[in-house]
Amino acid sequence: MAVKKQSKAAKKQLKSAKKQPKAAAKKQTKTAKKQLKTVVKKQPKVVAKKKQVNVTKTDTSRTIGGQYGYFDDENKEYILRNPATPIKWCNYVGTLAYGGIVDTTGGTVLCKGDPALNRITKYISQMPCSDFKGSTTYIRIKEKDSIKILSPFVVPTCTMWDKWECRIGLSYTKWVAEGFGLKVTVVVFVPSKSSTLIQDISIENISRKNMEIDVVPVYEFSHFDALKQLTNADWVPQTMTVEAHKENSGHVILEQYAFMKKQYAVNYFTASLPADSFDGDRREFLGFNEITGWAAPATLYKGKLSNSTALRGDNIAAQMFKFKLAPKEVGRVATQLGQEKSIEAAMPAIKKYRDLKNVDKAFTDLADFWKHYLTALQVKTPDASFNSMINVHNPRQCHTTKNWSRYLSLYQLGFGSDRGIGYRDSSQDLLGVMSHMPEEARVLAENLLSVQLEGGNAMHQYFPSTMEANEGDSREKEDRPKYYGDDHLWIVLTVAAYLKETGNMEFLKKEIPFYNKKKELEAREKGTVLEHLKRSLAFSWNDRGTHGIPHLGFADWNDTVNLPTGAESLFNANLFAKALLEMMDICEAIGDKELAEQYKNWYEEIKAQVNKTAWDGEWYVRWFDEKGEPLGSSKNKYNKIDSLGQSWPVISGIASDEYAKTALDSVNKLLNTENGIKLSWPGYNGFDPHVGGVSTYPPGAKENGGIFLHANPWVMIAETIIGNGDRAFQYYNQINPAAKNNGKISEFESEPYCYPQNILGSEHKQFGLARNAWLSGTSSWTYQAATQYILGIKATFKGLSVNPCIPKIWKEFSVSRKFRDAVYEISVKNPNGVSKGVKSVKINGQAVEGNVLPILPGKKHIVEVVMG
Ligand code: GLC
Repeated sequence: MAVKKQSKAAKKQLKSAKKQPKAAAKKQTKTAKKQLKTVVKKQPKVVAKKKQVNVTKTDTSRTIGGQYGYFDDENKEYILRNPATPIKWCNYVGTLAYGGIVDTTGGTVLCKGDPALNRITKYISQMPCSDFKGSTTYIRIKEKDSIKILSPFVVPTCTMWDKWECRIGLSYTKWVAEGFGLKVTVVVFVPSKSSTLIQDISIENISRKNMEIDVVPVYEFSHFDALKQLTNADWVPQTMTVEAHKENSGHVILEQYAFMKKQYAVNYFTASLPADSFDGDRREFLGFNEITGWAAPATLYKGKLSNSTALRGDNIAAQMFKFKLAPKEVGRVATQLGQEKSIEAAMPAIKKYRDLKNVDKAFTDLADFWKHYLTALQVKTPDASFNSMINVHNPRQCHTTKNWSRYLSLYQLGFGSDRGIGYRDSSQDLLGVMSHMPEEARVLAENLLSVQLEGGNAMHQYFPSTMEANEGDSREKEDRPKYYGDDHLWIVLTVAAYLKETGNMEFLKKEIPFYNKKKELEAREKGTVLEHLKRSLAFSWNDRGTHGIPHLGFADWNDTVNLPTGAESLFNANLFAKALLEMMDICEAIGDKELAEQYKNWYEEIKAQVNKTAWDGEWYVRWFDEKGEPLGSSKNKYNKIDSLGQSWPVISGIASDEYAKTALDSVNKLLNTENGIKLSWPGYNGFDPHVGGVSTYPPGAKENGGIFLHANPWVMIAETIIGNGDRAFQYYNQINPAAKNNGKISEFESEPYCYPQNILGSEHKQFGLARNAWLSGTSSWTYQAATQYILGIKATFKGLSVNPCIPKIWKEFSVSRKFRDAVYEISVKNPNGVSKGVKSVKINGQAVEGNVLPILPGKKHIVEVVMG
């Protein structure tokens, strides 16, 4: 079935390709041929012979499951078989401490601690996919009278291998390319807790003759200030330096730095093998004034590289390693691209990873990290793609968003002060890793709390390497408030989740400074974590407008609706109410009845105000503008209904059963599509300065009526709260990227192994097209929706609550969940085909009252749950 669909899609593609005007196509081919000829003329007998121009052949026997690749759940990898993905697909390696992005054709974005302020490689994502982007590895085969220049990554040499695959693994990418008598295997990863990117290259001679092979890995450096690299061609090039250190052993270390960093941060590139030759200057390496480019670097047609260093200009690190391989013989070299204070300081790491045993060990350690991380929660349900997402890809993406917030992706480029670690983004991301790495989550939560202001609201983002914070986009508009109405509220949910997961109530007493730009860190006011949370809530309580609803600020979760000062946000009201509920739980756990009482009163007041002022008849409105007029109402021309306006009153417990059902039915009727739930409808059709950003998009794109995926799990959660397991699961499946791998991937275009941020909505001609893979709150919230609401396993102060809301046809499922010191092996039976309701619970054979599994010592507990 899938195969049939696939070939249908392929035929369709072919058809539309044929539709291109013939003359234009002909002209195009002619120019391309001409271009190719000039390259070939300059470079003896090389590069772009017919065989090398195309993308790789695909081995159809193994492409079952997708046009581009397939999931290998056993190895926890996605195996790409076709490098010509519709857009760049990528993977993340390392962590924010050291790491970045590796794309499937070998490009690398690398940084240490901060993408904007400490960038290492130069990657310009807007250039065509065929371009060199920060790194590649050349394989040179010298035969009697010809030279072949290949790349296992296909790009930038356009090499067509007989067999090619790129395995997107857990924090590593592995390429295997076969052809030209060789089998080339490259693995790229960052060993845990190191500041080194390893590229482990093996070459096997699979021909019947002896071969001489040269391997030339190359990285191109960026100035550490990533934006300056793009905007300044005066100062930047004058400061960039590459020195070479040749050791007696023949090993070469290329040291690169921007002059002002010479004393405290140098990049280095070295390898496990002595180098035949090297280059540090791009102009020398590419030759011919760079005119023939990365596809055919001039030095590769000479015997050796030029041994260039660089006193200025575009800095690279290239080294050549020579192999003479008999048939079946394997050659191997592992390179290191690192950053340390000095070469001296880097020597221990350099020596360590020159030993291939340590490279192997680091790779196994990485696998062990992931094994440990993923065992926190494993599931077995009747739905295979649900299992695959929940057991591997979704928690993996949560780990990625926890590291990178919205700071560095192929869409959020991490330049300048445009992005940083987002307050609301990271607060939500932490909810997705809380059961896997609560202590790491706490550390990041502490950073977030330290950029909360004395008044209770928070700075919108901060730079991790300096801990300097700013007000985000609100800086751009003179006449709008300078704070976001929601940022400070999310952290209440995060801290509550941490406390419930760990029981570490002492954390509430930890003193953390409040942010104050004008004061040195030591002079800033400090408050306990509890005090920080109290100020968050007090801020929203005291910042309410004429309807008694919290003000919008510059924006709420929806960054793009920027109404004039005085507007109120119903979303902020609901998030505030949810935060109050969490705070009441905390108060109960620490026995502070008085505070709990105060929050209960606030909650009741907000609840009453929302229901009194915001019910529109079939759904809730979403905002009141500065004049008190509703937005997200049937009275509006655009933006009549908004998805958050409906999901959040259910999540906050504010909606009555009747309102909840009616509102969610309206979402189903007016916002749902086969590709997911639209954020709002109808989209603005032209710029409207009153609402701002949202109307800069065409209807159906992003927040303007697009399928903004982050908001989908909130509707799933709301549906489970009202007991609608079938609909919640339908919504889950609609946006499951793994399910797009079959048939729909040409329309979807984005990576099938992670959630994108948005899919174009039904008002847009490209309905179904996805963008902004990887860094999206969708990951954390879909994970929560699936595990805590559909499967219904949730940490509470009293224990692990089990309250599933599943599709009625599921007869059973099981979950293994680490909680505190124990592992709960929970199997759930659903003999009567219900969606919700727990009839009985047994732990280790003993019946328990209610549906909360008590906090138990010991290792493993067998839990049997019967629904009905
Ligand atoms: C982007 C922002 C996030 C915001 C969302 C909706 O994902 O990073 O902070 O909530 O858009 O506007």
